[in-house]
Parts: sequence; C-alpha cells; structure tokens
Amino acid sequence: MPLVNTREMFKKAYAGGYAIGAFNVNNMEIIQGITEAAKEENAPLIIQVSAGARKYANHTYLVKLVEAALIEINLPIALHLDHGDSFELCKSCIDGGFTSVMIDGSHLSFEENIALTRRVVEYAKDKNVTVEGELGRLAGIEDDIKVTDEDATYTHPDEVEEFVERTGVDSLAIAIGTSHGAYKFKGEAKLRFDILEEIGKRLPNYPIVLHGASSVIPAYVEKINQYGGTLGNAKGVPEEMLRKAAQMSVCKINIDSDLRLAMTAEIREALAKDTSNFDPRKYLSPARAAIKEVVKHKLVHVLVCNGKA
Ligand code: G3H
Ligand code: 13P
Ligand code: ZN
Repeated sequence: MPLVNTREMFKKAYAGGYAIGAFNVNNMEIIQGITEAAKEENAPLIIQVSAGARKYANHTYLVKLVEAALIEINLPIALHLDHGDSFELCKSCIDGGFTSVMIDGSHLSFEENIALTRRVVEYAKDKNVTVEGELGRLAGIEDDIKVTDEDATYTHPDEVEEFVERTGVDSLAIAIGTSHGAYKFKGEAKLRFDILEEIGKRLPNYPIVLHGASSVIPAYVEKINQYGGTLGNAKGVPEEMLRKAAQMSVCKINIDSDLRLAMTAEIREALAKDTSNFDPRKYLSPARAAIKEVVKHKLVHVLVCNGKA
C-alpha cells in the first residue's frame, strides 16, 4: 500500500470516536518500533518528522526508511511534516514525498497565519497532500525554541471558523493546556475541555489535532532517574484525558516525548548494567522494543484505534 494522506483516516476516526497516533521519528529503530506496533494492532498511523529530525537524519533517509516499513507492513500510513515553519519547508516536504504537512503559523498574527497557511494549502491541494494549521500557542520546547508559559495562549473558539474557511486547512491544531516536552503541569493536570467542546460546536465534523500529548510515563521517568538521569518532577497528560479528547473532535494525537523517554531509559539501563557493552545493537534492541510496547499501549488504551486500519 502506498503512503496515504490523512483525509480518510480522520473521517473514520471522527465518526468512530477514536484518534490516530502521530508519532515523531528520528531514526530507523524508532520507525521500526512504531510500525511493528501498528502492524500487530492493525492500526492506521501517522509518522511525523520535525524540521530538527529532517536536519538530523536527512530527508531522503527518513522517506526511504518509512517506505521500507511500508514494504514490511500493509497499513495506511501518512508521512507528515511536524511544525513546518515556512512555505519553503512545506514545499520541500510535499515535493519530496510527504503526504501531509503542518504549517505552524501560531506565532504569527491572525492575518499573517491565514496568509501563510492559505499559501501552503494552495500548493498542497494539487498534489493531494493534506495540511494541518495551528491556532493558539502551546508552551514547551519545539525545535530548540522555548515557548514560556506566559507566551502560551489558548485557542479562541471565536477565531476557528474564519481561520478554517479562509485557509481551507484539512485539520486544526489547538491549544487547550497541553505543552511540548516532559514538564507539562506544575500541579494538577488540567485541560480546557470547555474550549474543545466549543470548537467542536463551531466546526462540526472537523478533525482537531492535539499536540503535546505525551503522558510522560512514570516508569520510564523513574528508570532514567535510577540510572543517573535528572528528570525531577516531569509530568504529562493523564491517559483518561486523552481518551476523552479522542471521543470528542480530536482525531490526531501527537506523541514524541514518551518515545524519547522510553528509548533513553532502556539505553541508560543497558549501559549501566553492562559497562563493557559497546555494541549499539545490544543497547538499541531493548530501546526499540520499549518504543514498540509504548506505541502498542497507546494504540489500544489511549487512541483506541487498534483494528481500524
Ligand atoms: O513538537 C515538537 C516535537 O516534539 C519534535 O521535537 O523539534 O526536537 O524534533 P524536535
Ligand atoms: P510531546 O512532547 O508531548 O510528546 O508532544 C509532541 C508533539 O506535539 C509533536 O508535535
Ligand atoms: Zn507539536
């Protein structure tokens, strides 16, 4: 099966009250862990690549690794650019085989965001590539840029209809209190479901995207700390909140940090337990297996998209 865009997946996810997992990838082991999990759970998948991942691993390598995964598994997979920050970057990914892109103009004014997003949509349309836009701004770290809590803003429901209508975007990322990275909440986890509900009313049958949706799995935080890491009070989004969002209008849930934590925890443990280990295959194998376990858990218990491929 060739790569697909997100249109059909989102239509089914919206109707079925579940969400598609969008997992960030940077190398072969991560791609293998994610796609093997999807294969075992027969789940549709979005594999996403950030500008930083593309710089690290090289566009062609990542595309070819995902194509290799497609030969191994016969599932609907979209290859998506995460947080594209310019028309040129989106164009390069569209021309280079991606089936979906995000243009993140959330740091711009409303009018500038519309103009940039519209430009990407116009270009993508002819190539059958779907486009995700963003309104509102999450706190946390994206590609080395830190957005402070003070600079983060919730999405205004009053703006969403005009934004979607004038840009023609296929899906919309919103800010309701999640953030990027491993430190999402200082105290109790709180998401603005009232905003999500209002947006759902303003945009009926329209797919919403939730970024910053790692749960920051305590077992991996503990393991990293046990083997010399210093993650302190890292805290993520409770799974029941994500399940609730998936039953509402959220059709795409972005997860990166949980995979990084699982991978890092296993590598730290493997190296600490055998200080003479200098074989990357020996410390990357448990890391890849942990990614697969995390993704399987998400597909079944968080996204509830198992069996939906
Ligand atoms: O939202 C950002 C993703 O977690 C990607 O992170 O830009 O460090 O690859 P990155
Ligand atoms: P996390 O940092 O919560 O995994 O969020 C990832 C994300 O939103 C990628 O776009
Ligand atoms: Zn994000």
